[in-house]
Amino acid sequence: MNRLVVISNRVAVPKARGAAGAQGGLAGALNSALKENGGIWFGWSGQECEEFTGNLNVQRNDGVTTATIDLEKQDVDEYYNGYANSTLWPLFHYRIDLTEYEREFGKGYERVNERFAESALPLIEEGDLVWVHDYHLMPLGENLRARGLKNKLGFFLHIPWPPANLFVSLPYHERLVRSLLHYDLIGFQNDTWLESFLHYCRKELGARVDDASGAVTLDGHTTIARAYPIGIDYDFFMGKGETELAKSSEKRLADSLRGRTCMIGVDRLDYSKGIPERIDGIGRFFDVDPERVEDLVFIQIAPPSREDIGSYQNIREILEQKCGQINGARSDVDLVPIRYVNKGYNQEELFGFYRASKIGLVTPLRDGMNLVAKEYVAAQDPEDPGVLILSQFAGAAQQMQDALLVNPHSPDDLAHNIRIALDMPLAERKERYEKLIVTVREENVLRWTENFISDMEQLGQA
Ligand code: F6P
Repeated sequence: MNRLVVISNRVAVPKARGAAGAQGGLAGALNSALKENGGIWFGWSGQECEEFTGNLNVQRNDGVTTATIDLEKQDVDEYYNGYANSTLWPLFHYRIDLTEYEREFGKGYERVNERFAESALPLIEEGDLVWVHDYHLMPLGENLRARGLKNKLGFFLHIPWPPANLFVSLPYHERLVRSLLHYDLIGFQNDTWLESFLHYCRKELGARVDDASGAVTLDGHTTIARAYPIGIDYDFFMGKGETELAKSSEKRLADSLRGRTCMIGVDRLDYSKGIPERIDGIGRFFDVDPERVEDLVFIQIAPPSREDIGSYQNIREILEQKCGQINGARSDVDLVPIRYVNKGYNQEELFGFYRASKIGLVTPLRDGMNLVAKEYVAAQDPEDPGVLILSQFAGAAQQMQDALLVNPHSPDDLAHNIRIALDMPLAERKERYEKLIVTVREENVLRWTENFISDMEQLGQA
């Protein structure tokens, strides 16, 4: 088996990994792949330094070797907070209204991608499979090739790929995609994002595209583009559910409900997650059925994220205001309809909270996949499962058609589906759960890594 070199913006220390909702799905998924294949995980330490040195901090933890570099403050401002999270992130989540097109951000992005290539290159041995992750590092493959790397090079995009007519609003969009086409294999979360990418390559670059195989040929080089829907580390997560902490967390939440049904949302505090729109839907539900404040309590867990960016500060203010308004209007001395928690929890605790919640509300406005939806289903009691309400715009919706699928922009649709979920008979809950759990269990993260890695291994073989 080939050794694996994973390169991503962040590198998570295996023992510290949190839940999909708290930390993003990438970290947990990659640890599993590295444990299986051996190899190394390279990325940014998350730390800032005075002046960039490229010095590697190499550590071995729980069977996984990590190598990290520190970045300068200017790098973090222009590459991470700038181009990655103020330009690409909003644009790729269809939010051109929030997208910032600053020249300095673009330069910082290119500079950091050069720095990544320079620092990672000495770690790569002949025969290693090099697997680069996410929108932070699209030009990295080209930068590695320019330094003579001959290894097989794969790239996986964890977020959506926007429709061509939105993507062309990005200055130098062609350059970015031409650079991406230096990879041998590009993975997307689902067919929608894949089709948008192929459409762009054909229409804007004039590339030869074979839809059946996903082969994109431009300037004599062929890249294969395919969909590989990511899953959760099912066995690992189920193991978390066996712990004392999971059980005590379930009890802690259940005891606090005093007979009411708990509905839960768990998301990084990000505008793509549709949290204010979700609160509007809950507000609409209580407007229509005010007496059901006695039946339902909503818990939103939303750990802060990317706090140096203005649009993230705004979303926090909006959310606090909306929760405050509903609670102000609908609370009583012994009853608060919305519990908004601005911090993260570990996987054991979340397992317990999911299990105590008879409705999981996962309503992003746009999401590459969304692993909270899968964790919520995994944590349910098969004899008395809860109901998943899922946005039709989450990548996960393609695989999870037995959830209650909603339009997250419509408060009426959300309110209507909350009502259906609250009143759903046990037989229907079980029927839906039994279908959903098969996908969650079978299409797990190990399958995802195996599929991607095996396609990489076969590249170039007749
Ligand atoms: O899922 C997209 C992603 O950017 C992941 O790469 C990352 O783990 C997660 O969101 C959290 O984002 P950040 O690393 O910016 O905190």
